[in-house]
Amino acid sequence: MNNQLTWLDKAIFYEIYPQSFYDTNADGIGDINGITQKLDYIRELGCTAIWLNPCFRSPFGDAGYDVEDYYTVAPRYGTNEDLVTLFREAHKRDMHVLLDLVPGHTAVTHRWFKESMKAEKNVYTDRYIWTDSVWEEPRGMGCIRGISERDGSCAVNFFSHQPSLNYGFYRPDPDCKWQQPMDAEGPLATREALKDIMRFWLKAGCDGFRVDMAGSLVKNDEESKGTIALWQDIRRFLDGEFPGAALVSEWGEPDKSLVGGFHMDFLLHFGPSHYNDLLRCDEPYFSRRGRGSAREFVAAYRENYEKVGGRGLICIPSGNHDMDRLARRLDPAEMKLVFAFLLSMPGAPFIYYGDEIGMRYVENLVSVEGGYGRTGSRSPMQWNKGLNAGFSSAPEEKLYIPLDDSEDRPNAESQCADICSLRSEVKRLIAFRQKHPALQSRGSITFLQDGYPLVYERACASQRIRVVINPSGEEAAVSDTGGTILYKVGNAAEIKGDSLYVAGGTAVFVEA
Ligand code: BGC
Repeated sequence: MNNQLTWLDKAIFYEIYPQSFYDTNADGIGDINGITQKLDYIRELGCTAIWLNPCFRSPFGDAGYDVEDYYTVAPRYGTNEDLVTLFREAHKRDMHVLLDLVPGHTAVTHRWFKESMKAEKNVYTDRYIWTDSVWEEPRGMGCIRGISERDGSCAVNFFSHQPSLNYGFYRPDPDCKWQQPMDAEGPLATREALKDIMRFWLKAGCDGFRVDMAGSLVKNDEESKGTIALWQDIRRFLDGEFPGAALVSEWGEPDKSLVGGFHMDFLLHFGPSHYNDLLRCDEPYFSRRGRGSAREFVAAYRENYEKVGGRGLICIPSGNHDMDRLARRLDPAEMKLVFAFLLSMPGAPFIYYGDEIGMRYVENLVSVEGGYGRTGSRSPMQWNKGLNAGFSSAPEEKLYIPLDDSEDRPNAESQCADICSLRSEVKRLIAFRQKHPALQSRGSITFLQDGYPLVYERACASQRIRVVINPSGEEAAVSDTGGTILYKVGNAAEIKGDSLYVAGGTAVFVEA
């Protein structure tokens, strides 16, 4: 169970939203070949792995998180062969690729759902969660009703066009005959169908999956016992057939997901993590105003860390396609310190495409493909100063989402050429992490101070590194540091006597 993959220990992920990364066929939408062509850019930054957002056939009511066919790449992105080429080219560069697996729901246009809506019983009748009457709602779940031949309403898992796949109920309510137990025929068939999808893509050469809403599968499962058991079964299947397959969960409860057999779990930007106290609130901790607080983040992180026995496998993303860009509230100097933090925390760091150059949140966009407020974080990658920022040669009005139209929008080419740029700093920080095992995924962490500065110690058998981050505008002193300064980001740091003085806007790494 949960066998260890050594490549994950040093993995630095780059998340790619395929629509907006690089368009090679001038239709205004990014494509798989575009990702393959940009692999060297990602590798040169130091990233060793990719999380690719859903790239399968879809009506795109939720940017591809509404899958219509799990087995076919959406034509707008290319072909299955293109995706296999991407896997192969990534492997040549010693990189790994995780696909985004959406196990909880499909699109209403999925063939399973169309069959499931029929009045006559067939093999897909129980593939989704249906009540026995169109007048009965599946309590607490939201539903689709009135569009099927079948008399029933179908539970939804996220948007109201995403019907919930049926993995069963941990405790079926005896008054609701339509709630099936996990070991009923329909739920077991859904589970096998999920394994088939995984098998197909693992055979094609992908290295594993980021699993969407991984904790949502089994219903009436308050303590997640059913969902954990389901993932354990999937892990057994993987260990038997694909022991090298990596699983990273969007769950946010590592004490559950790791027991379920996931290698790593994501820290979520919603719920109790307090992650966005640091980056995305009125007074983020990382603002030089110095009015924020890291206290509750540290307390929540510590609690999770202790629950998993210090297995530190909680991945912290710089951002993702669901939240505001870092640059909405922080400037490049502040973001350098954010990366000093992200790249020195346990678990694999995830960099959202464009965050390495400080791409901005594009304000006031009309929602695209179910993005709503998230749309501004999904704008095209800014590669250079050329036409459409080098993203596409399509006419501007055909671009999937409008570009950041500010004259000084950051771009990758200029930042690669400037050693003082955010991207150059991110690259140096990645290289620094990769040279120091204490800073990597499995090194332990002990928080020593959670005010300004934030101080923590990372350690492994051979090394202890103290990280001191002072985002505020004021100098701070830390006593009893000892050791030597290995690396610094920002302004100034000096050891005098028994104290370390860290100027405002500075992060420093000290070997103990
Ligand atoms: C994805 C979202 C998506 C939702 C429903 C999330 O966790 O990251 O982009 O809308 O799942 O699939």
